[in-house]
Amino acid sequence: MARQDPSVIAVDKLTAKQAKAEHARLEAGIRQHDQAYYQKDAPTVSDAAYDALRRRYEAIEDAFPDLRTLESLSRKIGAAPARGFAKVRHAVPMLSLQNAFDAEEVADFVGRIRRFLNLREDEPVAFTAEPKIDGLSMSLRYESGVLVTAATRGDGSEGEDVTANIQTVTEVPHRLKGKKNPPVCELRGEIYMTKADFLALNTRQAAAGEPVFANPRNSAAGSLRQKDSSVTASRPLHFFAYSWGEISEMPANTQSGMIEWLDEIGFKTNPLWKVVRTVDEMLAYHRDMEAKRAKLDYDIDGVVYKLDRIDWQDRLGFVSRSPRWAIAHKFAAEQATTVLRDIEIQVGRTGALTPVAKLEPVTVGGVVVQNASLHNEDYIKGIGNDGEPIRDGRDIRIGDTVIVQRAGDVIPQIVDVVLDKRPRAAKRFDFPAKCPACGSHAVREDGEAVRRCTGGLICPAQQVERLRHFVSRTAFDIEGLGEKQVQAFFADGLVMEPADIFTLKARDARAAKKLADREGYGEISVRNLFDAIDARRTVSLNRLIYALGIRHIGESNARLLARHFGTIEALRAALKEAAKGKDSEAYGDLTAVGGIGEVVADALVEFFKESRNNEALDRLLAEITVEPMEAVKADSPVAGKIIVFTGALEKMTRDEAKAMAERLGAKTAGSVSKKTDYVVAGPGAGSKLGKAKEFGVEVLTEDEWFALIGERR
Ligand code: IVH
Repeated sequence: MARQDPSVIAVDKLTAKQAKAEHARLEAGIRQHDQAYYQKDAPTVSDAAYDALRRRYEAIEDAFPDLRTLESLSRKIGAAPARGFAKVRHAVPMLSLQNAFDAEEVADFVGRIRRFLNLREDEPVAFTAEPKIDGLSMSLRYESGVLVTAATRGDGSEGEDVTANIQTVTEVPHRLKGKKNPPVCELRGEIYMTKADFLALNTRQAAAGEPVFANPRNSAAGSLRQKDSSVTASRPLHFFAYSWGEISEMPANTQSGMIEWLDEIGFKTNPLWKVVRTVDEMLAYHRDMEAKRAKLDYDIDGVVYKLDRIDWQDRLGFVSRSPRWAIAHKFAAEQATTVLRDIEIQVGRTGALTPVAKLEPVTVGGVVVQNASLHNEDYIKGIGNDGEPIRDGRDIRIGDTVIVQRAGDVIPQIVDVVLDKRPRAAKRFDFPAKCPACGSHAVREDGEAVRRCTGGLICPAQQVERLRHFVSRTAFDIEGLGEKQVQAFFADGLVMEPADIFTLKARDARAAKKLADREGYGEISVRNLFDAIDARRTVSLNRLIYALGIRHIGESNARLLARHFGTIEALRAALKEAAKGKDSEAYGDLTAVGGIGEVVADALVEFFKESRNNEALDRLLAEITVEPMEAVKADSPVAGKIIVFTGALEKMTRDEAKAMAERLGAKTAGSVSKKTDYVVAGPGAGSKLGKAKEFGVEVLTEDEWFALIGERR
């Protein structure tokens, strides 16, 4: 059976091992998105997609509490402050809000509060309801009524000092208007830019050749994080106050009282707030705001309900990073209905075939949409990634009326089809079995939703990516031929496939327009490049196999294959035989190579089945010499042992160390386990040493390693 990708398994079905891997994967993703969002003001996913990641992450921690370590993201907010601004520690942390997405979650929120406070059923509970402004939160510290510091939220505990910039925002008072101001008060709220100002700013930016912002939130953040506050001053920023941090004397004992006080001391508060007393009133408020949303001059992404009585807020306190007494009720993503005119297949850099909906143009949330994602073949048929029906199994046909959704800045998606409007002539879409970019056959692996082009070496959609891989350090390692050069040579038709790299010199000698005449090149750099290419005309078999960029063939599988087959001819002959079927002897022999499973074997067979890959390989082999794999020494002292290299090795590179171990018949691993025989540690080795101790694994210095294998360095 094919291994299932843990990212599509429901949380309650994950094994502990899968949960750990999935938790780590989500954590890495969330960290990246946080960085993009908080430090670069350039989000990489929609808010809805981000929320989904975060929810799954937290659900996994709920189900597997061991995973909630002190480092867990569920204990943190946002990202550490960006470099360049001084840091400010918030006297009271700046928290985040939990999200509710539907009526049930709002009702649960109210129910939880009632239970926590042990309230009688007829005890009235009031909440404030207010728009959730899509800007960036700010903490303003006033001492004796005078603004002393302004800080961004940062990671919730520590933000950036943007006082100089905030002083240019007219809606932030330098001095509070109140008669009796608390000696110390931190007032909080949202900095934002209006939609109109955002559009105008982008027009100016574009005209000046400067980068444009993705949305008003990013433009507000970018404007605030200027090193030069005169730039901030030129950007129209606004501020709504809605909350507070440290405060020496509370001027009111309700949330609504606090909003009124904020008004009195000179802040702008959002005029749309009101008090609500039941779940129904909350939901009505949410609907009302959703209806008003498009007409507002600023972006809102939901509403916030806060328990009105502050003594109750204090009793409820916080859970990890958000208060129990408040919740953000988000708006559904923006949708529109339109007609699906056609489906086009795009081929990605890695050969994935993606269906794209070509739509009757329609405005969704203020943006004209003509293309939308249809994800994959199954999605069109109404089948989800887990094989279960989605949209109650409704398929999508050309001519159908469909629902498009835009969430944040991501590519719009088709989320549903309106069956009542299906015309008789609506056409089922036959997903192509051939790559539209190169005509090679396109295949789906077992358990995979994506169909991929197998024409790795010749598919124009993948060529640049393949060439980049081909010349990379762990493949052919051609100095002076990096991604940029590959791209430029490809664009000019000079290098279209690997063989072209090795014929470049001869062609250049005959060409009228020489490489040396190109911008950024000269006689010397061209000579260096040709020397670097010549230096790689002889290559080890494992590097060659790896360099072909066959799916699932990383360095270690390439070495396994090289060692097993010895020559490229033997490998090709075996694969030609293996293509005859899974019961062929050759296929059996292939999967009997330790470490090569069916998924890998199938990928190899597919690659070598494509005649144009073989032709491209022939052209390459005509230019280079392949060294057969060095024989493994079965009698070496480390034969059959499992070795982990860690720390900064000083006498050999990591690649060299691995190759050396493998030549001696040992296996190398990336992490220490019970099965590890030796850990070879250079200076700065970290947690792996601890693990070695835990499992009683012998630890060697580099010198001890060389002594063990009987080599001197
Ligand atoms: S109250 C302890 N009220 O939403 C509660 N936050 O997801 C503090 N936001 O960081 C937040 N409008 O940037 C609150 N009316 C509002 C808000 C609001 C926008 C933002 C704020 C906060 C984030 C939480």
